[in-house]
Amino acid sequence: MSILQASPSLPTTKAELYADLAAQLRSLLEGERDLIANAANFASLLYHSLPDVNWAGFYFTHADELVLGPFQGRPACVRIAVGKGVCGTAAAQRQTIMVPNVNEFPGHIACDSASNSEIVVPLIRGERLLGVLDLDSPSLGRFDDDDAAGLNDLAGIFLEATV
Ligand code: SME
Repeated sequence: MSILQASPSLPTTKAELYADLAAQLRSLLEGERDLIANAANFASLLYHSLPDVNWAGFYFTHADELVLGPFQGRPACVRIAVGKGVCGTAAAQRQTIMVPNVNEFPGHIACDSASNSEIVVPLIRGERLLGVLDLDSPSLGRFDDDDAAGLNDLAGIFLEATV
């Protein structure tokens, strides 16, 4: 899918954009294992590189709750029960969830009224659910299968690089 004007030096497809982000993320995380530091830089990279995104960040698993981690965007709700909202549903199902219109998702938790679509990627290491990566967009239907694939690849790089 074309997302940017053609240019010899800029990515022109989502696949190219995510390949470029994968290289940037590897470079950002190289030599650093700290969870919070790496999550913070990962969130910043996503927020400043992906078009049409108004929130990008993490919730980490603590007992049966997800607790807010590093993010970019407006302040967000701090605790989400596993099974609740889009984040808690992705955590409970251990599956990536794309919501084209959050207003039609039963139990959606609205942190920023500007958000209209959302994607949540679970972070799974072995058997353990570390948390979720969450992105919001002000546009309806912003996220598609290319985003899901690209974000899952990036999440894998983050999990490998981080304690
Ligand atoms: N909308 C999410 C809550 C987190 S914010 O989008 C940052 C949800 O329903 O789980």
